[in-house]
Amino acid sequence: MIGLAAVVAGMTPRMGRFVARLERLTALDGIAERARKLVRGAIRSRRVADLLHGVWLGHPLHPALVQVPLGAWTSAAVLDVLPGQRAAATTLVAIGTASAVPAALAGVNDWAALSREQRRVGLVHAAANTMALTLYGVSLSARMRGRHTIGRRLAYLGLAVASTGAYLGGHLSYALGAQVNQSVPGLWLLRGTWQRVGNVDEFNEGEPAVRKLGETPVLVYLEAGRFTVMLERCAHHNGPLGDGKVVEIDGWPCVVCPWHGSTYRLADGVVVHGPAATDQITLRTRIVDGRLEAAPV
Ligand code: FES
Repeated sequence: MIGLAAVVAGMTPRMGRFVARLERLTALDGIAERARKLVRGAIRSRRVADLLHGVWLGHPLHPALVQVPLGAWTSAAVLDVLPGQRAAATTLVAIGTASAVPAALAGVNDWAALSREQRRVGLVHAAANTMALTLYGVSLSARMRGRHTIGRRLAYLGLAVASTGAYLGGHLSYALGAQVNQSVPGLWLLRGTWQRVGNVDEFNEGEPAVRKLGETPVLVYLEAGRFTVMLERCAHHNGPLGDGKVVEIDGWPCVVCPWHGSTYRLADGVVVHGPAATDQITLRTRIVDGRLEAAPV
């Protein structure tokens, strides 16, 4: 155990340096841009893109879907060392391989709307996962032809590659903030108490206005005498919703982020179109002596 801990401790800074180099590897930009255009061309339907982003779920779909192949492949690796479990291991490899396809589709759809640095890491993440998927596909084929020893070896190799891909995916989310709600830090800066947004009579019906509550910009919208105050920085990548267009979708006035087109209902912040998959955070409002005030929920 001490030996394993030492190996892991030695690997961690090396992985960190490797990923830091990936983030700065401009040589990947050409291929990333061509791949991005390919993805955009292949997923033209906004409905399909929203489905894959997880707009309907209110949560990014890709990290939810990847649990299935990783879980199935890891379980197959355990069964592969136990006697009499060949059929069960083969079934799990088949489930993991089949479920990796929709997970990959959701992933490339998210990837196409990432920033340049994120796309570099994402490209290697996708390459590792494609290699893992190929190894598991060949492993499955070998197992089905009765060649279980080679099938097991390919699967272990596939698991090692998939784990590298998963590490990069974790780095993308937790270190680089891909597909996490980027507007949340603005919420932490707000004090928990009611704060003055402005005088009621300085806002016009149907015209979004930007105000600041301390360091946090908020978007104020007045419709039929009812105010909405939401964080102004887009949940996707912090784009300025105050510069966004207002459109009507299904009878609801919505604001479209000028950076990548995420669209939110102005009445309640509900996300209508991705790439953001989470709602825009709204604040409680009240009117006191002709002043509009807001506070975190
Ligand atoms: S920042 Fe990307 S859609 Fe708003």
